[in-house]
Amino acid sequence: MNTAEIKKEITGLIDAANDLASLEEVRITALGKKGKITGLMKTLGGMEPDARKAAGQELNVLKTEISGLIETQGKMLKRQELDQRLENEKLDVTLSPRPEAQGKIHPISQTMEELITIFGDMGFSLAEGPDIEDDYHNFTALNFPPGHPAREMHDTFYLPDDPEETGEAAKKVLRTHTSSVQIRAMEHQKPPVKMICMGRTYRSDYDITHTPMFHQCEGLMIDKNTHMGHLKGCLMDFVRKYFEIDDLPVQFRPSFFPFTEPSAEMDIGCSRKDGGLKIGSGDSWLEILGCGMVHPNVIKNFGLDPDEYQGFAFGMGIERIAMLKYGIPDLRTFFEGDTRWLDHYGFDPLDRPNRAY
Ligand code: DAH
Repeated sequence: MNTAEIKKEITGLIDAANDLASLEEVRITALGKKGKITGLMKTLGGMEPDARKAAGQELNVLKTEISGLIETQGKMLKRQELDQRLENEKLDVTLSPRPEAQGKIHPISQTMEELITIFGDMGFSLAEGPDIEDDYHNFTALNFPPGHPAREMHDTFYLPDDPEETGEAAKKVLRTHTSSVQIRAMEHQKPPVKMICMGRTYRSDYDITHTPMFHQCEGLMIDKNTHMGHLKGCLMDFVRKYFEIDDLPVQFRPSFFPFTEPSAEMDIGCSRKDGGLKIGSGDSWLEILGCGMVHPNVIKNFGLDPDEYQGFAFGMGIERIAMLKYGIPDLRTFFEGDTRWLDHYGFDPLDRPNRAY
């Protein structure tokens, strides 16, 4: 029995095993039930006692040595296999997880968010009303009596009468302005009230500055001592914050709306040079919104006593102020659904209007 020879042979096989499966084969060849060393162990029984003792010791040493070598080689191969897997399954976590966001926020949504932020910080709450209005809320309650010529100023879309209602409530229109929400909001609130409302409005009109559907923002403040100074201060702060120009000049011109008295239109300063328009101090004015002190008849329709309560209201076109701030030349493009337009004028979904005030 030449254990040195056997050891050399098996050590060679162990060294040559380059994965765990072939190492296991070597183990079986050497130490398995029918393995070489196991086979030699079995021959011990037939030996003379002295020879058996010597050979037994030699074989045990060999068996221990070979087991040790297999274990060491196994550990090495396991580490090698793990290194290989780590290399193969490498993940570069510095790569962006998905393609750049493709969607854009529409300028109308962005502008509405900005309005909510600015007026919200001034303490105005947000009210809502229906797009399909009745004649009472859209006109009569706002001091447009039936047959009043001011109704003609709105190119109203009339809907068929609602058979389930009677009188003015049966006469349905697509709301021509968000002023109808003033009446709705006051039906379930008591002063002091400070609210804005935003939404779609409809008029039968179509050119570069008119679309049959557009958006308005309405504001209303009602309390016992609210006066024209509050109206001016509130709207002046608003335009300066919205256009981000601290010294933006404003002026109020007398105007007419049935639901306010006195009524005014507010202009902001601008300059017009070489066909361009720049908002800020300059030699020209730009009309931006309508406003006024709520008419006593409307206060009555709120269910309040006009000798006790007064307030101001304002209304503006959201597209108009978005066009002015973001340099969008044609109103009609807002609603064409052209993704190239949205790519250009839209806003990053992760941008949020600042709450800097
Ligand atoms: N509703 C008016 C319009 O659509 C805008 C407006 C003007 C609203 C004056 C108001 C206001 O609340 O006080 O032209």
